[in-house]
Amino acid sequence: MAEFIRVAGVAEVPPGTMRAFTVAGRRIVVCAAAGAFYAVEDLCSHDDAELSAGFFEPDDWCIECPLHGARFDVRSGRALSLPAFRPIVTFAVRVVDDSLLVALPGG
Ligand code: FES
Repeated sequence: MAEFIRVAGVAEVPPGTMRAFTVAGRRIVVCAAAGAFYAVEDLCSHDDAELSAGFFEPDDWCIECPLHGARFDVRSGRALSLPAFRPIVTFAVRVVDDSLLVALPGG
């Protein structure tokens, strides 16, 4: 069962940006695009790269791995280009007042 945990204030992730946080021992990346927030694990599904060191393209809801350039849809986690073919882990996000809450499994 997932529990929603506060990760940041809304203002800490301005529109069109991404930012990494460590929450309950997990590295996650929160992305802000088109008026909504998305959270993914800060780990590429291809190899051991931190996605937060890559690039975020808010117009395409896309995060690009810095190591080999695989791209992922932050809404679904789906791999959009090789060399990755497996999805990345995504987490549900809620906005409550001025806080961003992320659902972490087993929290
Ligand atoms: S580690 Fe991300 S594309 Fe290879």
